[in-house]
Amino acid sequence: MPRLVQMAPSILSADFLNLERDIQLLAESTEPPEWFHIDVMDGHFVPNLTIGPSFVRELKRITQVPLDVHLMISNPHVQLDWYLDAGADLLTIHIESLRPHARGGLKGRSATINDLTAEEIVKGIQLLERIQDAGAMAGLAINPATPVSLLKPFYSYIDLVLLMSVHPGFGGQSFIPESTVRMKEIQHELNLLSAPVLIEVDGGIDSKTAPLAIEAGALVLVAGNAIYGKDDPVAAMESIRSVVSPCGRLCV
Ligand code: DX5
Ligand code: ZN
Repeated sequence: MPRLVQMAPSILSADFLNLERDIQLLAESTEPPEWFHIDVMDGHFVPNLTIGPSFVRELKRITQVPLDVHLMISNPHVQLDWYLDAGADLLTIHIESLRPHARGGLKGRSATINDLTAEEIVKGIQLLERIQDAGAMAGLAINPATPVSLLKPFYSYIDLVLLMSVHPGFGGQSFIPESTVRMKEIQHELNLLSAPVLIEVDGGIDSKTAPLAIEAGALVLVAGNAIYGKDDPVAAMESIRSVVSPCGRLCV
């Protein structure tokens, strides 16, 4: 059965002073995106700083397109409910943020862990259950240098894995080629478990890298610079979709 590719334009690369215009441009196009990807950065877990829950609430007010909220924050347990209340449809936390004080460095480095304690795993499962109990989809994100084997205990508790294909914090970076191997490993594990978990890929996705990501198992494509960084974001989104899903949204 053909798989339906889902587009998640990242508003990080949109014009923040004309954000409503940029949102409606894609939302009202012939083939609107399945999600808007919203990057929440706290200036600690990643070096950059973006938006908070009140902003998400305002976005929810202006579009019917579901909101995919990517929390790049330390201590997600403190703020989780704020984003659920604000209307996140998919809420993703980072596996590295289960380790207290984990933080990223400057551009090109990001928070990394090599193991998890039993206590941290339990804490993570509780957070993911809190998201699902609130009626949202639960996502778990992983940074480029964290082993994907650490995701295993969580596969029964999540709807989606967000694989970072750049070090988070900034838009417009280049896709890290090893990301495809990591996605294949995750897909292999999900197949063994028959776990209904989507793979989302985030960072450096454009019409050249999108086919590599899809071939490796991704189904949800985040793209910021390759959509909102272009003069015609609608055409840019359609061109990425068309290289991976020739019949577009009708491909089911
Ligand atoms: C990076 C963010 C991404 C970013 C992707 O930290 O998580 O969502 O917007 O941007 P591009 O597609 O430009 O790499
Ligand atoms: Zn993101």
